[in-house]
Amino acid sequence: MQTDFPKLALGTWLMGGTKDPDPNNDDQRDIGAIKTALDFGVGLIDTAQNYANGRCEELVGQAIANYPRSSYRILTKQNRIHLEYDQVMSGFNDSLTRLKLDYVDYFLCHAPNPDFDLTDFFKATNQLAKEGVIKHVGVSNFGPKSLHVALETSETPITVNQVSFSLSDSSILSSGTYDMCRENNIPIQAYRTLADIDEDPDISSALKIIANKLKVTPHQIALAYLNSYDGVCFTIKASSLEHWQQIKDSMQIVLEPEDIETLKKIHLTKKSGFGNFLEM
Ligand SMILES: NC(=O)c1ccc[n+]([C@@H]2O[C@H](COP(=O)([O-])OP(=O)(O)OC[C@H]3O[C@@H](n4cnc5c(N)ncnc54)[C@H](OP(=O)(O)O)[C@@H]3O)[C@@H](O)[C@H]2O)c1
Repeated sequence: MQTDFPKLALGTWLMGGTKDPDPNNDDQRDIGAIKTALDFGVGLIDTAQNYANGRCEELVGQAIANYPRSSYRILTKQNRIHLEYDQVMSGFNDSLTRLKLDYVDYFLCHAPNPDFDLTDFFKATNQLAKEGVIKHVGVSNFGPKSLHVALETSETPITVNQVSFSLSDSSILSSGTYDMCRENNIPIQAYRTLADIDEDPDISSALKIIANKLKVTPHQIALAYLNSYDGVCFTIKASSLEHWQQIKDSMQIVLEPEDIETLKKIHLTKKSGFGNFLEM
């Protein structure tokens, strides 16, 4: 794995609203959660243009305003409904304005979209990388077919593929995405690792048994299981220091092979709708 890609990032989906800004959003709560993560030492903030239609990027911009630029990295993503060359250029500039930055560390294509020529995204971002306003180019929800385009087109290395990878979703394994990322030395940044685990009785009961044995939480076991796959990093929306401490500690948990097998058997039966992107 490219070694300097951060193991942990703060996810920001639902900060500022859902797809559209929420006029009643508690902005101070969201800004507080971003500062909590930064103060804990989580040095990467993961946001996107279409989170609350740009409002989330504005909140990130407000939260980071008084931190030294060298103390954090910002990852944002180009909206998948605007992937023409000029749309990427103007979308990126709008992100910079909302974040109040003069460069971003990671700029990703949020997801492939068959209505566009994917090469445009890489032509535009390679130009922006040459200008120094993007430090690294990445992708999200890219399966083998889209990854192939990315690797063929981008002169700038593809530094990350942010994908759904949780006990509720094994699509990156069955689609060949995981293997292709490993073969090409592309870190996999797993999202929605914790969001659904309480809702699935198979998953939650298996996690509880192992968690009781190791005296940690089921969520920590879920993360430890996913972390047993090489090349995996995490973007997680955690709000408290307690949750961040548990997440950090879970990175040190080494599961017994039989516990990994138990979870894997369940995991391989699970797929989510996010996996559909991987076929594009
Ligand atoms: N690229 C894409 O298409 C895509 C799609 C989905 C998500 N994402 C990114 O991935 C990020 C993460 O996904 P997500 O926000 O959907 O879900 P998530 O991070 O898997 O789960 C968030 C939930 O987990 C809880 N949590 C955090 N740490 C915990 C702990 N130690 N123990 C128990 N619960 C804990 C949080 O509660 P508290 O708030 O109380 O801590 C919150 O309710 C998003 O925010 C977004 O940035 C990207």
